[in-house]
Amino acid sequence: MQGNDFVQSVMCRRGVTCFSCHDVHGTDNYAQLRKPGDQLCLDCHGPLSLNGPRTGTIEEHTHHKEGSAGSSCIACHMPQIETTIADVKVRAHTFAFITPAMTDKYKIPNPGTTCHSDKTTAWAAESLQHWPERSPWRVE
Ligand code: HEC
Ligand code: HEC
Ligand code: HEC
Repeated sequence: MQGNDFVQSVMCRRGVTCFSCHDVHGTDNYAQLRKPGDQLCLDCHGPLSLNGPRTGTIEEHTHHKEGSAGSSCIACHMPQIETTIADVKVRAHTFAFITPAMTDKYKIPNPGTTCHSDKTTAWAAESLQHWPERSPWRVE
């Protein structure tokens, strides 16, 4: 499942592999990650990195306070939406941001309203239109 996801991602096309993030010989971290999730991303994705995000700080990218649940890379880019057995869900490995419109159209949960469960997809879509570093059509 993770493999079928990952081949769709830009990271796969650029030569990142499963073992860029996981160590198959085992580590003390969840899912045999080389480092715990969000720390791992920052190895290749610091602020102003050529790989993105292209903002001066992580906070400008995530629009949430650094260190908070809302600024977790994997919360937004790896939501737990992949169904395995019964109701067990694992993390998406396309690394794509699921937009509120995709929730409306295809019923895929988007991280915005999964976290802010008291809010509507219209609220989430509206909020994203005010993120200045985003082309509005990308996050529609
Ligand atoms: C860019 C980094 C990255 C790459 C590349 C990557 N993974 Fe992961 N993977 C993660 C992270 C981060 C988690 C777990 C996050 C958490 O829940 O803390 C994870 C979790 C998993 C899990 C545990 C179940 C789950 O999804 O929560 C499996 C199995 C897995 N990955 C397999 C793979 C395989 C197979 C590949 C290659 C096809 C791969 N991963 C590529 C970062 C990566
Ligand atoms: C080993 C280095 C490496 C690690 C670790 C890594 N990335 Fe990447 N990532 C890349 C590269 C290289 C690209 C492609 C940049 C480009 O060519 O524009 C990329 C691209 C991306 C993109 C853009 C995809 C797109 O469609 O444009 C996202 C989102 C992303 N990574 C998220 C993550 C997340 C989340 C993590 C942590 C779980 C992570 N990455 C860990 C190297 C890495
Ligand atoms: C609150 C949600 C959120 C969080 C948290 C978040 N991102 Fe993103 N990220 C986005 C959105 C939205 C996009 C734009 C998606 C698109 O254009 O398809 C994006 C795009 C990206 C891209 C592609 C380059 C760019 O700037 O468009 C990279 C790389 C990336 N994120 C890495 C990260 C990393 C690393 C972290 C953790 C430090 C992180 N993101 C945390 C929402 C988030």
